[in-house]
This record gives sequence, C-alpha cells and structure tokens, in this order.
Amino acid sequence: MIPTQQDISEEIAERSRAYVEAERTQHHPARDYSPYRSSLLRHPEQPLVTVQDPEAVELSGPVFGITDVTELDTDLTRQHTGEPLGERITVTGRVLNRDGRPVRGQLVEIWQANASGRYAHLRDQHPAPLDPNFTGVGRCLTDGDGGYRFTTIKPGAYPWRNHTNAWRPAHIHFSLFGTAFTQRLVTQMYFPGDPLFAYDPILQSVTDAAARSRLVAAYEHDLSVPEWSLGYRWDIVLDGPAATWIEEGR
Ligand SMILES: [Fe+2]
Repeated sequence: MIPTQQDISEEIAERSRAYVEAERTQHHPARDYSPYRSSLLRHPEQPLVTVQDPEAVELSGPVFGITDVTELDTDLTRQHTGEPLGERITVTGRVLNRDGRPVRGQLVEIWQANASGRYAHLRDQHPAPLDPNFTGVGRCLTDGDGGYRFTTIKPGAYPWRNHTNAWRPAHIHFSLFGTAFTQRLVTQMYFPGDPLFAYDPILQSVTDAAARSRLVAAYEHDLSVPEWSLGYRWDIVLDGPAATWIEEGR
C-alpha cells in the first residue's frame, strides 16, 4: 500500500526522537532511512569492496580541463535564445575545508528543475510545463577565495512518488568534483522558509537539526541586484564538524 504523508511524517518523527535520545552527533543520514523509501532498496548492505588500484578509474572516468568551463556556463538564464520564466536569482558562496580555508579551482556543477518544478529530463513526465529556454544545468570553477557564483531562476517544488502527496521543497543539486572522479561529492541546497521542509523525508533524513540548517541558503539583500535578481548565499564546508551533508554512495 502506498503510504500517506501522515505515515511518513510519523516515521520521520520517530527517527528524529531516536536521534535526540541517542545523544550522539551524526551529520550524515542513515543509509537505510526508511521514510525515504527508495533508500531502503538501494543502500549497500555489504561492506564496500576495496579497490586495489584506485587510480585505474581515472583512466576511464570523466575529466575536465580549465578551458572546458566558460563564463557562460555560470548563467543558466542565457543558454537559449530567449529568457526562462521564473524568479531570477543569484546563488553564490564559498567552498571551504574544515579549517575555513578556501578550496580553489574546484569544479562546481549544479542541476535543477525549472520555475514550474519540472526537469528537462525524459524521466520527469509530471504535468508541469517545460520551459524551452531553460535546461537547468550549470558549472563553474571556484576562484582564489573558494567562491562560486551562478545566475539562474528559482526552481519550483515538484511532486515525487515516495508516498501520496509527496512534494520536494525547492532545491538545487550541487556536485563538487574534487581532484579526481573518486572524490566527487553531491548534495542539495534549499531555500529559506520553505513550508515543505517538515514533510520531506530527504531533507529530514539529516536528523541533526544544525546539519540540516546548513543545507539552507540565506537570503542576502545586498546580493540582490536592483531590477534584476534576488541573492542567496550558501557556503559548502567539505569536512569537519561544520560539514555540509553530502549524499553517500555516489
Ligand atoms: Fe531534485
């Protein structure tokens, strides 16, 4: 039977209670976080296999060079002949290590739904309009200060089939490439004040409230450009106690 939102919300509350009672800080979600149903089916149950020669994957994995990334890749509103519909936003921040030092020259990739909450992807067939002027992918390299910056439009919330009436809060997917493909990290950025936070088992799978709050960007008025775009700031900390939650198993 397909679970209802109430079923899922009860499970979320139960896992949250168990986390608080355990009094053990855990920034990463459990791999078998049951309210997020498909995680039950696809999380590893066996110990990971140690690869004897981890560098071998670099021979067949994706690579990029500095010249592959152009200025235009950071602006998702200029990839087509017309402008996409939606609320234009600037998303910026810094990639930092545990000591707060900038991680420079880092490939940051993003992908997102359009303003109506639909991905330009064959797998997304829900009845919201596609936007011919929006593909929803961008990338940039961090600068000398670890900074990244994108111009895009605010993605819409979208339904998914985890349970009846399941809706994802608006979010942007982020990937950080590292210095080798095996180091790639993937996470999601959310927008402040989204009413769907409490209902979303993916966000709630991060049971630590402080770690969860680090996935939410801050609206910053000084970043808003007059007559042009609204500004959001979101820093990504790669490890240590203030680390941004990273999806495992990718
Ligand atoms: Fe998504």
